Formats: sequence, C-alpha cells, structure tokens
Amino acid sequence: MDFGVTEQDGESIIFSSLYKKYWEIGFYTRLYDGLSPEAYIESLQRVADLIKLNEGEWVLDVGCGSGLLLPVLADRLTQGERYLGMDILPTGLASLGPRANRLNLNGSVSGVQADLSRSLPLADASVSCVAAHFSVYTLPEEKDRRRAYQELFRIVKPGGVLVTANPTHFYNAKQIIRASLESLKNQERPWIVKKYGLYPLTLYLGLKYIEKQLKSGRWHGYRPEELRDEIAQAGFAIEHSERVYGGSGFLVVGKKT
Ligand SMILES: C[S@@+](CC[C@H](N)C(=O)[O-])C[C@H]1O[C@@H](n2cnc3c(N)ncnc32)[C@H](O)[C@@H]1O
Repeated sequence: MDFGVTEQDGESIIFSSLYKKYWEIGFYTRLYDGLSPEAYIESLQRVADLIKLNEGEWVLDVGCGSGLLLPVLADRLTQGERYLGMDILPTGLASLGPRANRLNLNGSVSGVQADLSRSLPLADASVSCVAAHFSVYTLPEEKDRRRAYQELFRIVKPGGVLVTANPTHFYNAKQIIRASLESLKNQERPWIVKKYGLYPLTLYLGLKYIEKQLKSGRWHGYRPEELRDEIAQAGFAIEHSERVYGGSGFLVVGKKT
C-alpha cells in the first residue's frame, strides 16, 4: 500500500526511555488494551464518529499505539477506505496486523514508525483525515506540539479534517474511573468485575501515573482554548470542540479549508 511514505528527516527530541518502557510493556502484554477504561473507549468512539471518510479515502492515526481506534472505526473501512497507524514504538504497531485480522480488515490497515516531533514522512495532502487521540500531549514543549499540528495540516488534503483529543490540565484519574463505571451501569454490562477487578489496576498502574506526569509538566495537560488555539494556528478552521473522557479530555475537530 503506498501512502507516499519517505524517510524521516529533522531533529528528534528525546523520547525518554522510561516512557518508552511504559508504553512498550503495556502494548506487549496487552495490559494497555485490557485496562483502558470505558470513558477512554467512549472518547475513541467520539473520534470515530467525527471522522469524515468517503469511499476509498485514507485515515492516518497519529500516535496510534496498539490501534484501539480500529475496532470503533471498523464499520467505516468497508468501501476500500484505508487506515494508516503511525507511532514511534514498533511494539504498538505490531498489534495492528493481528487486530486487522480479527476485524476482517486485511489489506486495509498499515503501520509506519515515525516520531511526531520531527517532520513526518508523508507527502503533502496525502490523507483525507487525521486522528490524533491522546498522543500530541506527550510532547512537553509548546513549540513541538505546534510543529506537530503544522505537520498534520501539511499532510491533510484540502477539505480534510483533523480530529484530536488530549488531556486537560485538570485531569482527574478518579473521576475518569467514576465516569467509566457510570457508563457501564447505563449499558447494563457486568460492571462489578471492572469495578473490583480491573479498574483498581487501571487507576494505579495507568491513570495515576499519567496524572503525575501531567502535574509535573513532563506531559502536557491543556487549558480551555489552548488546544483550539494550537490547531487554529496550524491553519485548521475549528469546526467543533467538546469535553471527553469523563471531563478529563478536550476533543477538537479542525478542517483544512
Ligand atoms: C496514550 S497513547 C495513545 C495511543 C492511541 N492513540 C490510543 O488512543 O489508544 C500515546 C501514544 O503516543 C505515542 N507517542 C508518544 N510520543 C510519540 C512521538 N514523539 N511520536 C510518535 N508517537 C508518539 C506512544 O508511543 C503511544 O503509543
């Protein structure tokens, strides 16, 4: 499959080996998938809902991790549409193939290893839509985040959209768990297993760790308007914004007019 992928150039920022291990262990053991709370899956669902994809078009998932967006996007990839996952870690990308198999999406899914803090190895106007779900916030410097969104603007076709979500500066791990349990109750699933079995692990192995990184500024929690501003400054016209992830995430849709 040809997405016009080239070699990456430009300077790389340091991707801390500690964070690398954190994601790698999560993806390799599949703990990342298993422990993702309901509110996170709902946020991915919102991204999928807002992606505009016509027959045969391509979507790029930036910082795709293990490809959790794929299951919620699968029913939109049946008319020759294609998904390209991009991540700095091969461990996450390795999950894309098996996931595509399980979803009967063979031939529609590819992965590319690339660093979001550098020039992206894709041609100008090469994809119709970009999803960036909880990935850009891992760049602590504002100039790197702005550059990343400018790169995404460059590679989206005119008329295409960016759907991005990132944590807020008031990210609250316990509130995310409360919101997830509330959703599970509404859906009448066996939420007790999650409440007493999985979610304590989600809280202490995952969400509390992220909360700590956000508080320390090693990862970035967005203030209201800040995410909209980064996206607008990159050239996108803001089409929509909303709170997601139990109130701990901002989602913004920008269009390249
Ligand atoms: C919280 S995970 C989100 C994964 C996926 N988007 C999801 O919603 O499940 C953050 C992802 O960003 C990736 N990431 C972090 N820094 C990156 C960089 N500089 N370039 C590309 N990917 C990066 C990590 O490897 C990880 O897969």
